[in-house]
Amino acid sequence: MSAVRVHNLSISLDGFATGDGQALDAPFGHAGERLHEWMFATRFWHETGAAGADHVFAARHGEGVGAEIMGAGKFGPPGWQDDPAWRGWWGDTPPFRTPVFVLTHRPRPSIEMGGGTTYHFLDASPAEALARARAAAGGLDVRVGGGPTVVRDFLAAGLVDHLHVVQVPILLGRGVRLWDGLEALEETYTIEAVSTPSGVTHLTFTRLRQGR
Ligand SMILES: NC(=O)c1ccc[n+]([C@@H]2O[C@H](COP(=O)([O-])OP(=O)(O)OC[C@H]3O[C@@H](n4cnc5c(N)ncnc54)[C@H](OP(=O)(O)O)[C@@H]3O)[C@@H](O)[C@H]2O)c1
Repeated sequence: MSAVRVHNLSISLDGFATGDGQALDAPFGHAGERLHEWMFATRFWHETGAAGADHVFAARHGEGVGAEIMGAGKFGPPGWQDDPAWRGWWGDTPPFRTPVFVLTHRPRPSIEMGGGTTYHFLDASPAEALARARAAAGGLDVRVGGGPTVVRDFLAAGLVDHLHVVQVPILLGRGVRLWDGLEALEETYTIEAVSTPSGVTHLTFTRLRQGR
């Protein structure tokens, strides 16, 4: 069966994956761009970026992925559901290039974008959303793209096979935390940590197979 993967989910030392006060002019709230500066410096992000260890981790994001699931909080700023013209942050040709399933309590008709991305809007449980995404992924893996609320829900439901978290050495103090309610998650994963010269630590969680 295809795997369920999370990549490049960047968190502060105190566990926040986004800041407080998300808005149209502040997609990450008071965190600004601080959670992703490590990524902006890589070739994964722009062609003159560094091709070192951070790039190697970042570039795994798209390999073998046939669909993404994201939350309403990643798709747009608070209240985007009231704007019928809102089509996500990423312009007419979004970088996903696959079906994208947006979890929202206020679904709307699907939107076909350029470059192979189609947004589908679902009010469904994580397991139901995963079944839809798997069916659309053509045998490839499904990425859970965030934000932290949706990743936390998929982890709590035991649905994530591979989790890549990037711990950034900043303290945000407020925002949306990833780890709340996930006590002892580490018991069901093999965990590796790699710190890179940029100062971040890449944590990879690989789910232990049942019966081992
Ligand atoms: N640090 C990173 O690497 C990273 C990665 C991705 C995103 N982000 C940031 O994270 C923030 C968004 O994260 P978030 O935790 O606030 O929100 P989120 O996880 O993107 O979305 C949560 C929202 O999705 C909807 N939803 C979730 N599960 C649902 C279900 N089963 N059925 C129907 N609707 C469901 C609900 O919205 P409604 O009730 O309003 O429909 C819920 O409030 C943004 O600031 C984004 O920029 C950070």
